[in-house]
Amino acid sequence: MSQQQIKLYYKNVTAEVIGAEDGITQKQFKDLDEKTNPLITELNAQRKAGNTAYRDLPYDEKIRRKVRDLVAELRDKCENLVVLGIGGSALGNIALQTALNPYMYNLDGTQRRGPRLFVFDNIDPSQFGSFLDWLNDNLDKTIFNVISKTGQTAETASQFLIIRQLLLDRLGPVGFKNQVVATTDPAKGTLRKIADDAGLRCLEVPAGVGGRFSVLSAVGLFSAAMCGIDIDLLHAGARDMDTRVTQNDFYTNPAAVLAAINWHCYNIGKRISVMMPYNCALKDLADWYRQLWAESLGKAQDLAGGEIHNGPTPVKALGATDQHSQLQLYREGPNDKLFTFLQVEQFGRELQIPAPPACAPELDYLAGADMGRLLKAEKLATEYALIQSSRPCLSIIFEKVDSYSVGQFIYLYEVATSLAALLFGIDAYNQPAVELGKQASFALMGRKGYEQLAEKMRPIAQIEEDFLV
Ligand code: PA5
Repeated sequence: MSQQQIKLYYKNVTAEVIGAEDGITQKQFKDLDEKTNPLITELNAQRKAGNTAYRDLPYDEKIRRKVRDLVAELRDKCENLVVLGIGGSALGNIALQTALNPYMYNLDGTQRRGPRLFVFDNIDPSQFGSFLDWLNDNLDKTIFNVISKTGQTAETASQFLIIRQLLLDRLGPVGFKNQVVATTDPAKGTLRKIADDAGLRCLEVPAGVGGRFSVLSAVGLFSAAMCGIDIDLLHAGARDMDTRVTQNDFYTNPAAVLAAINWHCYNIGKRISVMMPYNCALKDLADWYRQLWAESLGKAQDLAGGEIHNGPTPVKALGATDQHSQLQLYREGPNDKLFTFLQVEQFGRELQIPAPPACAPELDYLAGADMGRLLKAEKLATEYALIQSSRPCLSIIFEKVDSYSVGQFIYLYEVATSLAALLFGIDAYNQPAVELGKQASFALMGRKGYEQLAEKMRPIAQIEEDFLV
């Protein structure tokens, strides 16, 4: 079966379209090619040296087999699948489900080929409590997939401890063991200890793969496969993109062009990167991208240790919804944004708009049109309006949204992130700034060893009446 490739369209960032002040000239493209070309080679060398383990996930037949085996064992025994995780241990799961399963998947049994899916990536007690009330005595029909590379993440740990206790109280140790799948580090960490101790079924977050680069590992694959998503096709799409993004020729390498345009736009003051899907199914991929881009590219130091405070701010918007919320700012506010539309050619569904009543002839133009045609027209109209205001616009064009195209998209953005980091001269794979907030939470929650930090935080923790209005 021949599958279609997603495409990056970049004409609307060129000086020819939006002018030389905001657009990229031919000479600048030549410079971008020269600057990026050796970095493609460097990234390929990093991969060969085993430093970008995420690159090889789509080739890992062992992961797919293990996931498939577990799905075969569990899928028919459960009505609900609950993912407990946060950040890179949840956003990919949510994105795959929204992109590749019907909107009413959870509510309409005829629209799904697996259990209902709930992904909890927060610790709001009213939300989680309400869910537990709904779940009530259906624990034995529910599989809980706790995902944490470290097992130390307070949010995931707290959810998991609540579920663990509930299962132990209601179903006993055997029930606990039967209803939980732990996805964690193969060898170390808190969740690994708990899982081994209780004899839980386990999947792995592979060594060397950070959370935000892990969606194509068991982290994302298990919930996807449980819910009937074709994980073989997802990996095949990623492999297809791999052949394109390893190419040394700048102009045929979409990750290189994407990263270079983003880098250039940032350097000329367009420091906000708006991703705007014109398709509801892709909206959570924009959320996934937001984390990937922000945690990977937002860094205080460059690779040499110099202070740079780098980072384009990723923003997600949704077409057409945000035309009626953000577009005024996007056109008339500061020209500090690069727009990336996600455009879909075939929605897989036609919905014809009927004729309006005779009293509303101004709506006649809609009569007989397909709703998808209107959405596509609005994408183009928005792009046109932005171009008139000299705003740079990229489009990622999907012929259709399926596992193959989504696999390509994920891989494209992961590699573009790695290349953008090389262009910025920063480390894409760490997140040192997240640590302090985590430690401060430990201190506030009374974790042993964090007493000094708790003391240091006292002035911030106390609300001073003088500053309350
Ligand atoms: O990308 C990352 O590394 C983070 O977003 C992590 O995924 C997130 O902090 C959760 O970590 P863990 O899987 O250890 O619970």
